[in-house]
Amino acid sequence: MTTSAMPSAALELVNVSKSFGGVQALKAISLEVHPGEVVALVGDNGAGKSTAIKIIAGVLRPSSGSIIIHGDSVEMLSPEHAKSVGLEVVYQDLALANRQPVYMNMFLGREQTNRFGLLAKNSMREETRAILDSLDVQVPSVDVSIESLSGGQRQGVAIGRATHWSRGIVLMDEPTAALGFQETSKVEQVIDRMKSAGKAILIVSHNLEQVFRIADRVYVLRQGTVIGERKIADSSAREIVAMITGADK
Ligand SMILES: Nc1ncnc2c1ncn2[C@@H]1O[C@H](COP(=O)(O)OP(=O)(O)O)[C@@H](O)[C@H]1O
Ligand SMILES: [Mg+2]
Repeated sequence: MTTSAMPSAALELVNVSKSFGGVQALKAISLEVHPGEVVALVGDNGAGKSTAIKIIAGVLRPSSGSIIIHGDSVEMLSPEHAKSVGLEVVYQDLALANRQPVYMNMFLGREQTNRFGLLAKNSMREETRAILDSLDVQVPSVDVSIESLSGGQRQGVAIGRATHWSRGIVLMDEPTAALGFQETSKVEQVIDRMKSAGKAILIVSHNLEQVFRIADRVYVLRQGTVIGERKIADSSAREIVAMITGADK
């Protein structure tokens, strides 16, 4: 494998399969993502990309195979369990509380309280500012509501939250699909900063130009099978398209 010289994987899937009744959505897929690496998962509609992300995130249980996190085989029992082992996911549809301020979203379900049991608002505000600053995500203030932000800013907050709470691994399923050109470019910069900070990032994207801008490696899924893996530096969009469609055969 081309990655054997790299440090040990943050995330590994080994022969993961998933059936929905008669449909085999994933057929023994294996992949790995290393710290400081952006790995793209591409494939046609229905190839199994979202199913793979959901299995890693504990939303779906695999029919067979293993998930290995920082060297330990982990059974993902639920999304809460996945979070508890440090896995965070950013989805296309932004999973934020629109009426709540930015800083409360950063701590949604994990609110800090002071010794009187009251919300520790100032410390959450400060921490939120530091998290967003570190990724260069710009918002007018951490007190404004999510609904007052642009799509790109919202996704910046979602990525900031994922980066903050994850332990080294961030999954993204089409994080820029709902965004315009400039907002997409901003989110790509944030992904770059996460990578520089040493996160292992697995991103599903149907935008091959984006994959070539931000990813280090790519796995191509076709009808539930990983039919190839390439280093971005050694491949081309033409080659990847041929792999996605099966024109390489
Ligand atoms: N909950 C489900 N129940 C039944 N079939 C499903 C379910 N989720 C996905 N599938 C099927 O699994 C296959 C892969 O779907 P998906 O992972 O969403 O593909 P992708 O994200 O690559 O477009 C498709 O054939 C899809 O219809
Ligand atoms: Mg999908």
